[in-house]
Amino acid sequence: MNTNNIKPLTTTILKTIKPTADERTLLSNVADELINKVNSTAAKQNIPDISAQLVGSAARGTWISGTHALNIFITFPEETSREELESFGLSIAREVAMDADRSEERYAEHPYINMRYRDFDVDLVPCFRVSSPDSIKSAVDRTPFHNEFIKQNVSGLEDDVLLLKQFMRGGGVYGSELRTQGFSGYLTELLVIHFGSFEKVLESACDWKPNLVIDIKEHGSLKHTDPLVVIDPTDPKRNVAAALSLDNFSRFIDISRSFIENATEEMFFPPPAEELTDNEFVERLNMRKSEIMAVVFKTPDVVDDVLYPQLHKMEQATAALLEDYDFTVIKTGSWAGDDVVVLLELMTSTLPDVKKHVGPPVWVRAHAEMFKSKY
Ligand code: UTP
Ligand code: MN
Repeated sequence: MNTNNIKPLTTTILKTIKPTADERTLLSNVADELINKVNSTAAKQNIPDISAQLVGSAARGTWISGTHALNIFITFPEETSREELESFGLSIAREVAMDADRSEERYAEHPYINMRYRDFDVDLVPCFRVSSPDSIKSAVDRTPFHNEFIKQNVSGLEDDVLLLKQFMRGGGVYGSELRTQGFSGYLTELLVIHFGSFEKVLESACDWKPNLVIDIKEHGSLKHTDPLVVIDPTDPKRNVAAALSLDNFSRFIDISRSFIENATEEMFFPPPAEELTDNEFVERLNMRKSEIMAVVFKTPDVVDDVLYPQLHKMEQATAALLEDYDFTVIKTGSWAGDDVVVLLELMTSTLPDVKKHVGPPVWVRAHAEMFKSKY
C-alpha cells in the first residue's frame, strides 16, 4: 500500500505540465480559426454538408503544456464515396494549408495534410461521419466517438490524465506508434476513468499480470490475446491496448511499483542519458567481454508504422537463426536513421570446429545404424 504522500510532488509536476489559461486561450483561438477556415473553404468550393471538428487531447483538456498539436477532422456524410472523401478532403485541406508555414501530404488509411500553422503542429484529416462505431468505414472514423466518450467522462480527472501521461513519458512507455508500442493518449484516459485517479492506476498496476481485461462498458464481444486488453467503450470488438508490447506492459508494472514505494520527480522527468566519448563507449563494450554484431543497411523508404514492426521482426528472426546455429544471443536492438542498424550481442562470435551429435540408443538397431553411417 502507498505510504508516501505524493500530493506535494504531483502539485509540483502539474505546475510544469498543466497548460496555463493563456495557453488554453491561444489553443482554442487557433483551433476555432482553423475550423472556420475549413468550413468556409468547403462552402467556397461548393462541397456541401462538411463539418470540421477538433479531436484528440486538445479537445479534451488533456494535452501536456508545450505540446502544441491540433487534430482537426473534416467530417463528410456517411454516403460519400471513398474517392470523393479523398479528393474533396484533400482539396479543402490543401487550400487551408496555403496559409501555413509549411505543409505536406501524408498517408494513413487515406491521405491527410500535416502542417505548421501559427506554431502548431496541425493534422487536417478527412473522415466519414457515421451514425455509430459499428458502421465505420475507416479507422479514423472512430476518433470522434472516442472524443465524445472522453469528454463526457473525464471531467474532473484531467490533472490525473496529465500526470499519467507524463509519468509514462518519463518511463519511456508513452506513445502507441508502432515505433514505441506503448500506451496511447486514449488508453491513459480510459485507465484514469476506470480506476478513478492517477495514483489508483499505478496502485492497480503493481499487481497486473498479462491477459488482464478491463471492460468499462462490460460489452466486449471478442477474445483478445494481448498482454493488456482494454475494450473500447465505443466499440465492443476493439482492444484499445492492442499496440502495447509485453515489454512496455512489464516496464509499466515495474515503474509503478517504484513509484508507490518511493515517488520522485525524476520518474516524471528523468535526467538525459549521460553522453559518452568514443573511448568510454568502446571501453564499456570491451568490459562486457561479449561480441557485438551489427547488420547495417540503407533505411528503406517506407513510413514508420511499416518500418518499425519489420525491424522488430528482423531482430527476432536474426536472433533465432543465430540460436539455430548454436550461438547464444544475449541481447538485441535496432535503430533507424539514414541507415538501419540491427545490433546483436552474442556470448561469442566463433564456434569450435567440433559439434556434439547425440544419436539414438544402440539397441534401436535401424536408427543406430543410420546414425553411424551418417556420422
Ligand atoms: P493522438 O495520437 O494525438 O493522441 O491521437 P491524443 O489522445 O491527442 O494524446 P496526446 O496528448 O496528443 O499524446 C488523436 C486521437 O486519435 C485517436 C484517438 O481518439 C486520439 O485521441 N487515436 C490515435 C487512436 O484511436 N489510436 C491511436 O493509436 C492513435
Ligand atoms: Mn494529440
